[in-house]
Order: sequence, then C-alpha cells, then structure tokens
Amino acid sequence: MTRCSLPLSLGRIKDRLLIKRPTTMPSVKSACSAIIGIVICISVPQLCFGPAQAVFGTTPNIKHIVIGRCFTYTTLVQPGLRYDCEEIWRQFEKAVVQQSSCNVTEEHYFEMFNMMPEIWPCDRFLFWSKTRVLVHSYAAVFRHFWTLEDTLVGYLFNDLVWCGQEEDSDFDFNVCPAWSTCRTHPVYSLWKRASQNFAEMACGNITVLLNGSVVNAFNKKSMFGSIELDSLNPQRVNYVNIKVVTNPEGPHIESCSQGSILELIQILLSRGFQWTCTDSDLALVILQCVQDLNHPSCQMLANNMLQQKDLTST
Ligand SMILES: *[C@@H]1O[C@H](CO)[C@@H](O)[C@H](O)[C@H]1NC(C)=O
Ligand SMILES: *[C@@H]1O[C@H](CO)[C@@H](O)[C@H](O)[C@H]1NC(C)=O
Ligand SMILES: *[C@@H]1O[C@H](CO)[C@@H](O)[C@H](O)[C@H]1NC(C)=O
Repeated sequence: MTRCSLPLSLGRIKDRLLIKRPTTMPSVKSACSAIIGIVICISVPQLCFGPAQAVFGTTPNIKHIVIGRCFTYTTLVQPGLRYDCEEIWRQFEKAVVQQSSCNVTEEHYFEMFNMMPEIWPCDRFLFWSKTRVLVHSYAAVFRHFWTLEDTLVGYLFNDLVWCGQEEDSDFDFNVCPAWSTCRTHPVYSLWKRASQNFAEMACGNITVLLNGSVVNAFNKKSMFGSIELDSLNPQRVNYVNIKVVTNPEGPHIESCSQGSILELIQILLSRGFQWTCTDSDLALVILQCVQDLNHPSCQMLANNMLQQKDLTST
C-alpha cells in the first residue's frame, strides 16, 4: 500500500476528524511525503491535508468529553437506554493505551463494543460519502433519519483523535501518527468496526447520499464503498434508495445514469438488492438553497415557489 492510498480510503473519517480544525491546514506539500501522495494531494487536496499531518496528539480532556457525551446520550438523547459509561471508558482506554500508537486493531475494541449494543428501528438508516455537511443538515431536518454519528459509539467519538504510546499508561497528547503511516490506526480501527456494525444492523429501506460534484461519487475505497456496502444484508434491506446531490454551482459530474454510481447499482443488482436512484431530490435542493439563496439555480426555485404561493392565495 502506498503511503497516500490509505487516506484516500478514509475520506469520510478524515472529514469527521478534521473539518473543525480549519486553522491548521498545512501546505499541500507538507501533507504528503511520498511522490504518489503529492500527486493525489495536489489533485484532491482535501483528501490529504488532514491525516498525513501528524501534529495533533490525543484530543485534550478526551476522558471528560467521552464520559460526558455518554451521559448526555443516555440521559437526554436516548433516555431509557442503560449503558455503563464509566465501564465503556475503561474498555476504550484498555484498548488504546500501552499499545504502540500504530498497532490498535478492531479486535482491541471488542470488549468496548460489547458494552454498547444498540438496536435500531428499520427504514431510518442514512449512509453517506463525501456529503458530510449536507447529510447532517438533512438528518437534522428529517429527524427520522439516523447516521452513524447518532449511534452511541458515533456520538461518543465524533471529531476526536486519540492514540496511545507503548511505554506509558496514558494517551499520547503530544502527537498521534498520520493515517498514512499506519495500517491499524486506533481511530481508523474504531470507525471501521463502528461502520461495519451500523451497516450490519441496517434494515428496511436505507438511504445513501452521494456527492455528484466529485469524480467517483461512489468510491470503492471509501468507508461506504468498502466497509458498509459489504456489510449490508440483502435479506434485511428492502430498498437501497440512492440520492445523488450536486452543489448548486456545480460541477455536475456524476448522476444516477453517469459515472461510478452505475457501478454501485451493478453491485447492488448482483447482490440481490432492490434499489432506486434520484438525481435531484427536492428536499435536498431546497436544503442547499436555504444556505445560498442568491445562487441563480436557487433563485429560479424560489421564484417558482413564490408563483405557486400566489396561485394558491388568489
Ligand atoms: C503489534 O501488535 C502485535 C500483536 O498484538 C505484536 O505482535 C507486534 O509486535 C506489535 N507491533 C508493534 C510495532 O508494536
Ligand atoms: C461535494 O464534495 C465537495 C468536495 O469535497 C464539497 O466541497 C461539497 O460540499 C460536496 N457537496 C455536497 C453536496 O456535499
Ligand atoms: C421503500 O422504498 C420503496 C422504493 O422507493 C418505496 O416504494 C416504499 O414505499 C418504501 N417503503 C417504506 C416503508 O418507506
């Protein structure tokens, strides 16, 4: 595996980890050391600037954050669920500390995941790739959708970074390895297992939100394309409803009938899934336009709606 191919496969996790750290965007050059990495970083900088940069250690106050979020979740978000937050933390800590910081596998988290079983109602599962910002506004408006970040494990560890150190019984708060230098990065291993569990649980109709403004909207190396898709069970899932969404200003690169999404549909067919695919879901278009009313395509939409309102009120 080349040094930069791992981060490529981690698009969504990196999104999750690094989007809130805008001040630290390093130069394209420092983001990748391998030649191939530089090529990838120049052509798709957002895929590389974060993870290859090993400047952050474990998120400060991680213990308080995780335990606090756990109590918030079990008290306010999903009241009635019984989890032992302190024990979840202990199992997490046990998985990570006193390990070489690049050597934490999914198996290390086995006990922790055992402490947090979750059962979700069908028809609510929302998957996504390269649509991080939009997907969370979407889920906030359509409250019946659930993403990985709404599960207990997703809620606890969203946006956090962590790693241990071999010779010490504490987290390494100074520096954690870059994604690209590790095959079993502690953060990656946790999200990989969490994503897999989430997809295995999925049932009924599921929704997948993909980004038609990028090449390879469906990327077999992404978390969705590799881990989640392979964990979906055709016996449990009735329909895979794909929604392709492009930025209002474009580019319009991929759609239900163009590009990598055809490949996704082929895979679904070959595994016996039923599917639908929508290119311009009205709710999603409106949601984007709420954030950019002045865009010409949004103005048209707004005018149409105003006209309709006039019609109904006369
Ligand atoms: C990684 O862990 C394995 C098994 O736990 C161990 O055999 C190996 O020596 C470790 N490697 C490093 C670099 O710590
Ligand atoms: C699609 O991906 C691009 C590049 O990562 C991003 O800037 C844009 O916000 C994404 N669009 C949507 C609708 O999520
Ligand atoms: C599931 O999706 C299919 C196809 O979009 C739709 O016809 C059906 O009504 C959906 N069922 C539920 C329960 O949402």
